[in-house]
Amino acid sequence: MRLDRLLSNQNGISRQTARELLRQGRVRVDDQICHDGLRAISPFMQVCLDEDCLQAAKPGHYLMLNKPAGYLSATRDPQHPTVLDLLPAELRPQLHLAGRLDRSTTGLLVLTNDGQWSRQLTAPSAKLPKRYRVTTSEPIAEEAAERFAQGIYLERENLLTSPAELHLLAPCEALLTIYEGRHHQVKRMFHAVGNRVCGLHRELMGPLLLDSSLAPGKYRLLSTAEIQAVWAQPDPDHSAQRPAHVRLPAPE
Ligand code: URA
Repeated sequence: MRLDRLLSNQNGISRQTARELLRQGRVRVDDQICHDGLRAISPFMQVCLDEDCLQAAKPGHYLMLNKPAGYLSATRDPQHPTVLDLLPAELRPQLHLAGRLDRSTTGLLVLTNDGQWSRQLTAPSAKLPKRYRVTTSEPIAEEAAERFAQGIYLERENLLTSPAELHLLAPCEALLTIYEGRHHQVKRMFHAVGNRVCGLHRELMGPLLLDSSLAPGKYRLLSTAEIQAVWAQPDPDHSAQRPAHVRLPAPE
């Protein structure tokens, strides 16, 4: 919601008074004086008028999980355990997944209760890199890197994948970086070059790197710097309404 509307939604504050309060520097957003009535305010921001708190900041939760194989990237499922089963019960109802992995895929999964933040990370228009460590059943063909760079035709969607980078580590192991996230994309790309993925592990999503100290099934909270690094990505919606609740990272 816009700051001027939030103010004028308060009892007894007209739009004109709201403008005047902003001009006088009596309105603070996250402890900073704000004069801009058009500023977008998210539920995660605190808004004060003089000494009165008009909106308390809702706590934001930002987590990375090292997803083990066998868990569904879903919030509930009648048959299989879901990744939420690996998290504290009190957080589960609030969280959603910022991107998904197949049940057999392991590695970096990000969860949050902040929809605008997760959109920064997952919106197709953001085109953020996702890096996977891939193990294949057959040696990776020499021409695979070139084919992936040129784009692989996906019949179901009738489109070419955007250029991807393949870096060979061993005959049957490589790092693949893609900039989109179509259903089973990595498996389908390898299938298109006559191979089969038998191990898939996500290491990186945009500015977030899986913490190598996290054992499979373990999670940790993201640091302020990691949260801010996601906000620092270009706005995928090119929206003037983007919340500006970007505080400088606390020294770590
Ligand atoms: N590509 C796949 O095929 N599976 C995943 O889980 C992620 C990317």
